[in-house]
Amino acid sequence: MLTLNYEKAASFVSAAELEAQQEKALEALDTLNSKSGKGSGFLGWLHLPDAIAPAEIQALQKAAKELTDGVEIVVVIGIGGSYLGAKAVIEALSHSFAALLPSRSHPLVLFAGQNIGEDYLSELLEILNAKSSACIVISKSGTTTEPAIAFRIIKKHLEEKYGKAAAKNRIIAITDPSCGALRTLAVQEGYSTFAIPGDVGGRFSVLTPVGLLPIAVAGFDIAALISGAADMAKITAEKSLHNPAVNYAAIRNALYNKGKKIEILVNYHPKMHYLTEWWKQLYGESEGKEHKGIFPAGVDFTSDLHSMGQYLQEGERGLFETVLSIGNESSHLEIPFDEQDLDQLNFIAGKRISECNKMAELGTLLAHVDGGVPVIRIGIQQLDAYAIGGLLYFFEKACGISGYMLGVNPFDQPGVEAYKKNMFALLGKPGYELMC
Ligand code: PA5
Repeated sequence: MLTLNYEKAASFVSAAELEAQQEKALEALDTLNSKSGKGSGFLGWLHLPDAIAPAEIQALQKAAKELTDGVEIVVVIGIGGSYLGAKAVIEALSHSFAALLPSRSHPLVLFAGQNIGEDYLSELLEILNAKSSACIVISKSGTTTEPAIAFRIIKKHLEEKYGKAAAKNRIIAITDPSCGALRTLAVQEGYSTFAIPGDVGGRFSVLTPVGLLPIAVAGFDIAALISGAADMAKITAEKSLHNPAVNYAAIRNALYNKGKKIEILVNYHPKMHYLTEWWKQLYGESEGKEHKGIFPAGVDFTSDLHSMGQYLQEGERGLFETVLSIGNESSHLEIPFDEQDLDQLNFIAGKRISECNKMAELGTLLAHVDGGVPVIRIGIQQLDAYAIGGLLYFFEKACGISGYMLGVNPFDQPGVEAYKKNMFALLGKPGYELMC
């Protein structure tokens, strides 16, 4: 279901170095499976694909249907792990021009609370004024500033437009099962709610209602997503060198130890942009601690070959690439023959666009390896819910293994608090005045 090829990266380390990291990765897998490592109170995500009951999936599908009845736009409010998983999956599975489709069977999902853009929120309100809408607000802590600001705005809009009583049926809150400001508000206002399990952290929560409800609202098959993740959970539980999560963690740590401190996730498919953003958060927030960790970056090829290509080919050599390769595209479009051939493209007339893209991928891989960039390749057959579910779980599992190999706690994020303290002090939040 997923292939991992690290031949073009292994040549940058010795066989002994790779073997040592593979051994370390197997030990880290043990630590993860036995829940004996750092942050072991946040390992609920490990078993999510098997733990979710068919009745829970049906409840999410039912809630999605009820919320969206007669609704044109659903605004999903959240940030970080409460945003990127749903955004990544919806983008990967949606029509590239979904917003412009003349007719749709499911509402358009828009996001808010992932920034503090005044123009962004004002322009969103402008759109909502002319459309029927509903809202899913997601925050585990319930106190994160960005989504809290956005929710105040959207809640006010819904209440003014539909009246307080009707507005509450247009809001679903996803938050901690028992505590936090959003839970209190939801109980007080009578919103429908779904719980984020206490032992699942934000960036590992895409397979909880945090990701599943927005994905179901957008019309995608959450049962297939879970099934892909469940199959990958089996494959990546295996304590063997056939386990792709073990090998991915091993090769990236072997490269890191050789001074390759930056990993660039490369995609050749425009729908994968937000999958990269999700991956960046997963690895950046999990590993970037104690002044350690591979810096996760991303590029969209071939677009970025015309902006970042020069650097990647000939700049500093402290980086490696992980290419996400998709087997089949679902459409079929060929390059047309042209009588004049002024652009000299007739030599590829009749070929599929995807074939050209594949040759760009292969050509780039060879060029970058020649230029001193190790390249890992992760392949999936096609962009569908099952394959994406497997890919998400694969990256989560490898991230847990890799974080333990590095010696950090992959499941906390103490560094995220620093900016908040300063921002609160600057905004005059009571209790924060003396902190900066
Ligand atoms: O991975 C994480 O834990 C974070 O990125 C959180 O998801 C993010 O900060 C949002 O937090 P919350 O869901 O509490 O609003």
